[in-house]
Amino acid sequence: MEDYNMAEKMIVHPRSSLKGEFQPPANKSISHRAVMIGAISEGVTEIENFLTSEDCMATIKAFQSMGVQVERTGTNSVKVHGAGLDGLKEPGDVMDMGNSGTSMRLISGILAGQPFYSIMTGDSSLRSRPMNRIADPLRLMGAQIYGREGDLAPITILGGNLKPIHYQTPVASAQIKSCILLAGLFADGETVVTEPAGSRDHTERMLGSFGAEVASHNLTRKVEGRPKLTGHKVSVTGDISSAAYFLVAAMLCRDSEVVLKNVGVNPTRDGILEALKNMGGQVLLENYREESGEPVADLHVKSSQLKGGNFGGDLIVRMIDEVPLLALAATQADGETHIRDAAELRVKESNRIANTVSELRKLGAQVEELDDGMIIAGGGGLKGGECESYGDHRMAMSLAVAGLISEDGVEINDVECVNTSFPGFWRMLSSLYT
Ligand code: S3P
Repeated sequence: MEDYNMAEKMIVHPRSSLKGEFQPPANKSISHRAVMIGAISEGVTEIENFLTSEDCMATIKAFQSMGVQVERTGTNSVKVHGAGLDGLKEPGDVMDMGNSGTSMRLISGILAGQPFYSIMTGDSSLRSRPMNRIADPLRLMGAQIYGREGDLAPITILGGNLKPIHYQTPVASAQIKSCILLAGLFADGETVVTEPAGSRDHTERMLGSFGAEVASHNLTRKVEGRPKLTGHKVSVTGDISSAAYFLVAAMLCRDSEVVLKNVGVNPTRDGILEALKNMGGQVLLENYREESGEPVADLHVKSSQLKGGNFGGDLIVRMIDEVPLLALAATQADGETHIRDAAELRVKESNRIANTVSELRKLGAQVEELDDGMIIAGGGGLKGGECESYGDHRMAMSLAVAGLISEDGVEINDVECVNTSFPGFWRMLSSLYT
C-alpha cells in the first residue's frame, strides 16, 4: 500500500528494502547565514542550492522588510543585493520568524548593531524558547532588549553603539556564538566568545569567506569589528541533518543500499556518522571534496545490524538535531544505548527528550527518560501505532523512519512542520521504495 497523506497526517508503512541515489536538500544553517551575511555585505551574493524551506524564507522576508533586495533567480537560487554594514532600514512592522530559532537568534545579533527599533515574533514554539541566552550578551554589548517575562519572544531590540565583549557561553550553541559574532561586526575592536564545547562553525567559515577577520583557537572565536564584507557566490552543500533520516532508514531496512550525494560533512556536524559507525553502521564517504569552504562527500549506506553504544559529551553537540533519530536507531540495535549530556534537546522546537521517549514507547520500544538524555533497550520489534510530531519537524521525520521498520506502520499527526526544513521529504522517501 502507498503511504498517504490525510490533511496534516501521514501514514508510513513498513518496507523491506530501500534503494536509490539522490541529493538531500541544502543545508539550512548555511542557507540562513548566506542571506544574513550577504545582506550586510557590499555587492551581490548569489546563492546556489539555497534551501527554500519555511525557516529560510522567514530569514529572507526579515531582510526584505529591512530594505534589502533579495530576488529568487531560480527554483533553488537567490540573489542578495547587499546593503552594507550600515545600510539596513528600520522595519515598518513586526518581523515574524515562524518556527525558526536560527533566524531569531542570529538576526538579533545583527539588529543589536542597528540604530533603530525592531520587534521579532514567531510561532507558539519559538515564543516559548529561551531568548535570554542571546539577550544577556547583547545587553552586555550595549543593546536594549525587551521580551516577555524571561526574555521570551516577541522581543524588541533597540541597538546601535555596541562595544566588544569577551563572553563565555553557558551552553555550547552555534546560535548563541553566531549571534555574538554577528553583533561583534558592528562593535569597534575585537569581540571574543568561548564555548564549553565546539558547536557548528558555519558562521566563522562564511564570515571569513566574505572578508571578516575571524580567529579560532580551541573553543574561542574572535571577530574584528567593522570589517569590509564583500558579497560573492555561495554554493550550499547538502544538509547532513536532512540526509540523516535516509542514512538511518537505509541502515535499518533490510536489503537496502542508498547513495546520498553532496552531503556536507563539516567535522562540527558529523557526530551522527561517528555514532552510527560506532554502532556498526555501514557508511562510506566517497568523492570527498570542498565547496564554498565546506567539506562535502557522497554517503554510500547499506543495511547494517547495529549494536548499542554510549554517547555523550562533545559528540552530542556535533549531532544535536539527530539525537531523536539516533534513539530510534538504538531501538533496533543489539544491546542498550545510553544518551547523556543532551539536556539542550528540551529547549528545541519541542522537548525532544520527553517527546522521543513518549512516542517511541507508544510504538512499543522500551525507553527510560533521563534529565539529560535517555536509555534505550535495543532488540528491535517496533510494533507501530499513532504518534504526535508535536509540530516538530525532526520528530515527524524520525517517526516516518520508524514507520518503515515497524510491524504495522506509523500514523504521524501534524506533519506540516516538515516544511520548515525539508520540503519534498515525503516524495524523496517514497522515491527509494523498491
Ligand atoms: C543551528 C544550531 C543548533 C541547531 C539548530 C540550527 C544553527 O542550535 O539545533 O537547528 O543553524 O546555528 P544550537 O546551536 O542552539 O544548539
